[in-house]
Amino acid sequence: MNNKLLHTPDGVRDLYNEEYKKKLSLQDKLHQVFENHGCIDIQTPTFEYFDVFSNQIGTTPSKDLFKFFDTEGNTVVLRPDFTPSIARCAAKYFDLEEEPVKLCYMGNTFINSSDYQGRLKESTQCGVEFIGDGSANADAQMLAMVVDAVKAIGIEDMQISIGHAGFFDALLTEAKVDKKAAKKLRRLLDNKNFLGVEAFAENLEVEEELKQLFCLLADFDITDEDFNNALKCASKYPKIAEAMNSLDELRTNLKEKGIEKYVSFEFGMISNYEYYTGIIFAGYTYGLGEPIVKGGRYDTLLSNFGKDAPAIGFAFVVDQLLTAVSTNKSTAKEDRYLTFALGKGRLAKKTLKIFEEIGITCEEIFDPNTRKLIFVNEELKLRFFLAKGPDVPTYVEHGAADIGIVGKDTILEEDKNVYEVLDLGFGNCRMCICGPESAKELLQHQEQIRVATKYPQIAKEYFYNKKHQTVEIIKLNGSIELAPIVGLSDVICDIVETGATLRENGLGVLEEVCNLSARMIVNQVSMKMENERITKLIRDLKNVL
Ligand code: PRP
Repeated sequence: MNNKLLHTPDGVRDLYNEEYKKKLSLQDKLHQVFENHGCIDIQTPTFEYFDVFSNQIGTTPSKDLFKFFDTEGNTVVLRPDFTPSIARCAAKYFDLEEEPVKLCYMGNTFINSSDYQGRLKESTQCGVEFIGDGSANADAQMLAMVVDAVKAIGIEDMQISIGHAGFFDALLTEAKVDKKAAKKLRRLLDNKNFLGVEAFAENLEVEEELKQLFCLLADFDITDEDFNNALKCASKYPKIAEAMNSLDELRTNLKEKGIEKYVSFEFGMISNYEYYTGIIFAGYTYGLGEPIVKGGRYDTLLSNFGKDAPAIGFAFVVDQLLTAVSTNKSTAKEDRYLTFALGKGRLAKKTLKIFEEIGITCEEIFDPNTRKLIFVNEELKLRFFLAKGPDVPTYVEHGAADIGIVGKDTILEEDKNVYEVLDLGFGNCRMCICGPESAKELLQHQEQIRVATKYPQIAKEYFYNKKHQTVEIIKLNGSIELAPIVGLSDVICDIVETGATLRENGLGVLEEVCNLSARMIVNQVSMKMENERITKLIRDLKNVL
């Protein structure tokens, strides 16, 4: 029997019996909420012309789209999401100047990505697009619908973070940040590297009020006081004030709707989707390491289809919601453990030493006779486990650990979606390009050289994006210094701490890539749902560091 007949390709799956029943029931509940909020059902085709999802309109890079040709040779794609299709329909079929319309949809979407580790390439999305109303009240109506929908499927604990696409753009304009620096800041925010953002803000030579507004980008705990202070600072800068005032108006609307307790502001929230123009938001709950809902305002998208109408939308990925519902155990918040993944070795030892200073202990973890994998501090409701360095960001990204301690080298190399919140100040070393003295010339003359490394991503980033030098990268797993000695490579890209290994082998540092140290990373959902505990931990650690 041909095995391929029984198996499905990577990224798609069968659903049957109970599991499918659960999915259908969940979809019904969501649909009921949308109907109660006055939504009209809409269905669009599974595939459309490529242009509908092209870069400036769509959210998915072209390389991640499933593309094929129709009989006339047009490129068509399986829809990666719904928003552009709904915008197209709204522009075509509705008189939006007469009356705003709320359209709801449910259907499968397709993303052909190779780095969607463990995620489905075909998943069911459902959501709402509210078209023709650009008010803060419309924003609040949509957020209220999200809260109702999440409650309807049995999830009570949720947090929605709200940012504003215009706030970030206005900051850049007012501070006259040049293109290169803006790109750097966007990247830092994209990587949720709050440390980097903080340093960026501190180094800006701008008025104090503007600096304070920039600092908000790295603030993951915006209080009412912070917000009011930001409003004051923003009043000097018309464009920033515009964004802030619309958020303030939204704040009032949310209070009126009684849902302010589910909402917090995150000014550093940016989106790679070019079409967002106003608020952007993401909703989080326990049981899933990533947002359960995402959305935002896109007032210019419809102009691509020939109509000018403001719009705001949100989408749930039903398959992820199912996971969240089944793992969103009814454990009371105060009974939840905070789980730490510690990079094995020196890092873990030093980390626990610092933790001791703030009253967090876990002696058992270093007992040489134990084969246990998880260590618990019942009193403080904390759990610890040791993992290989490169695995730490993976545990944290998926929410299997709330917090991770790992070297900056691993963070850069693994490039996971986690918050980088604290430099622990130990494990200091440098990432360098090293080799024999003779290799210096090869580097200077931009020759095509062979680079051996345990860190191919860091090496690629350095040579291709920073130096613009073409290189051949050879991935190794350890004792990298051997490679140039035995002729496997010309140079290496590796960590240098004391420099002893290099010296003893007749090699030296030829170029420096970056400084490294131990960092604390946090899962994006934990950052919202356990904000109080995690911010206290960060504050306590900052005090002793
Ligand atoms: C690291 C690094 C260098 C060495 C640098 O290797 O890859 O080889 O330490 O330290 P030094 O500057 O103090 O000599 P590690 O000991 O982690 O083992 P590995 O070579 O197997 O990666």
